[in-house]
Amino acid sequence: MKAIGIHSFKGGAGKTFLALNLAYLLSSKKNVCLVDFDLRAPSLYAFFGGYERVKDKPRYLNHLIEDVENFESYLLPIKENLSVILASPNIEEIKRDLRKKEKDEMKVLERLMELKGKLRERFDYTIFDTSPGLSYRSINSMLISDILLFVARPERIDIEGLKRLEEVTSTLETPRYVILNRVNGDVDVGINLPVIAKIPCSCSISMDEPFFVKNNPEDPVTKSIEELARFFERIE
Ligand SMILES: Nc1ncnc2c1ncn2[C@@H]1O[C@H](COP(=O)(O)OP(=O)(O)OP(=O)(O)O)[C@@H](O)[C@H]1O
Ligand SMILES: [Mg+2]
Repeated sequence: MKAIGIHSFKGGAGKTFLALNLAYLLSSKKNVCLVDFDLRAPSLYAFFGGYERVKDKPRYLNHLIEDVENFESYLLPIKENLSVILASPNIEEIKRDLRKKEKDEMKVLERLMELKGKLRERFDYTIFDTSPGLSYRSINSMLISDILLFVARPERIDIEGLKRLEEVTSTLETPRYVILNRVNGDVDVGINLPVIAKIPCSCSISMDEPFFVKNNPEDPVTKSIEELARFFERIE
């Protein structure tokens, strides 16, 4: 199992869009789990039934961290070979995560390592969609990832942020790659990490549907994410 952590220093870079569509494409051949690691501002619940659908079974990553033995019951099946683990949109749950102190974090990391063990038995890929910047949760997800993808738009604020991510992860042995999103034309971001995808900017993207690649198979955006999926297949 490969755990792919998707990060950006600044928000809105395209992490969730990429996580959803990469998960969809990889699941055509492999068993994939997509995890909403953004416990402060969750997204995936908005696509997959939302709070209403799972109200009678409120099983979110928030609880899973303390209940790893029952991991199977937290998996929400989306399609063949694709499951998600949602983060809770409940305000009280979000506040509970915010109240966690530095001393709680080692325990959280231990539990996340255990969770990774469970994911490893069940999936070929796990994709972590994280919160922007540096929070405990995004650092935790970096520490349990086997591959890190840094998403950035080719503009000054994002590129500066990319340098911060490069710096803060420089002591990790985890392979790190850059995905440039919303790119038109040639760009050189001047960073010492391999750029493995350049996803064009497209006005046809609407995140009202989770899987752009499913409905737009010929779009250049889909083609670039397909190429990225092949990159993962090559490095297996
Ligand atoms: N290649 C693209 N072309 C045009 N629009 C895009 C592209 N990629 C993403 N978007 C749009 O950019 C917006 C932000 O994307 P997304 O929510 O995936 O970012 P994010 O990094 O997850 O944000 P956050 O940090 O808030 O979690 C969305 O409205 C999405 O539809
Ligand atoms: Mg997001």
